[in-house]
Amino acid sequence: MSKNQVQIFDTTLRDGEQVPGCKLNTPEKLIIAERLDELGVDIIEAGFPISSPGDFNSVVEISKLVKNATVCGLTRANMKDIDAAGEALKHALKPRIHTGIGTSESHIKYKFNSTPEKIIERAKEAIKYAKTYVEDIEFYAEDAGRTDNVFLARICEEAIKAGATVLNIPDTTGYCLPEEYGAKMKYLMENVKGIENVILSCHCHNDLGLATANSIAGVQNGARQIECTINGLGERAGNTALEEVVMILKQHPYLNLDTNINTQLLYSTSQMVQHHMGILVQPNKAVVGENAFAHSSGIHQDGVIKNRATYEIMDPSEVGVTESSIVLTARSGRAALAYRAKKIGFDLTKKELDKVYPEFLKTADSLKEVHDMDIERIIKSNRVRADK
Ligand code: KIV
Ligand code: ZN
Repeated sequence: MSKNQVQIFDTTLRDGEQVPGCKLNTPEKLIIAERLDELGVDIIEAGFPISSPGDFNSVVEISKLVKNATVCGLTRANMKDIDAAGEALKHALKPRIHTGIGTSESHIKYKFNSTPEKIIERAKEAIKYAKTYVEDIEFYAEDAGRTDNVFLARICEEAIKAGATVLNIPDTTGYCLPEEYGAKMKYLMENVKGIENVILSCHCHNDLGLATANSIAGVQNGARQIECTINGLGERAGNTALEEVVMILKQHPYLNLDTNINTQLLYSTSQMVQHHMGILVQPNKAVVGENAFAHSSGIHQDGVIKNRATYEIMDPSEVGVTESSIVLTARSGRAALAYRAKKIGFDLTKKELDKVYPEFLKTADSLKEVHDMDIERIIKSNRVRADK
């Protein structure tokens, strides 16, 4: 792997599926897994095999199906979980076990009633045990976002010695600021022995709307894997949105960081996941929302009609959207009306446009949006009146 390559680890089928109401059955998971593989994700987190027989079965079937990506199963740091994951992944061409434990003070004290030393021991044992099943072991330090950096560096170093190949640094509660999360990655890059032999991974939650910014800060400071979900689905406010981080890296080539994602499949993949998971993205969702390439104010429409780049930083076709849309509302100007009229076959002269426009505004004031049939009706009734 080149040092400028960022691995995309998709956890739609694990962290994403934890969302209430998002439960998928195995056939649905297979459809999504197949699409993720086609999209070019490097790792598919297929599920948490110990959690239920259904999830175990899904990981088995996804392992059999996926041809390109690594297939990963989540475990806690115990033998039962790891046995289930090892078994579920046995058909995968490239299997990975994702094991770990909470490392912040509150996790150690309250969740485990334990001590930092005992937590390190449990992490090492889990990694060594998982290693008896597969070579590729990702270690997660749950709540790393709120874990003291010195302790985090220690446990990461021990995880590498025990055989971890990837170190996941989750901001489990979505608390970090981008500078803080970036500084954490930098600290680990500079203070963990053996870090050059493993991949550091960002896993950010969106409780404060910072998951994407934090993941980008992570890769700017040495991480080379981003854990994310389609449409940003995930626990509470969600995870980092795959489509956002991928397009940020693509639209900022000076960062010199690439992914393997076929971005032209982003929009249709988003639609597919919305359909199967039953959770619709908001219209103003970055990259894949219905309004992501829609222009509705007169000033913007005029600019876009003259030159798309005036108000668009990416070409919609790059993410699989056919074209930008000019939405007609009471804020639209003559240029937008003429443009949309032409699209449905009416090439209006300046005089015609001047006549039709006031009527268009009257209609627009009474509607949320003016559609093609409204435009056609206004133009035709105007032409009939002119003929009389
Ligand atoms: O957010 C988190 O900490 C997680 C881990 C289980 C990786 O999802
Ligand atoms: Zn998570």
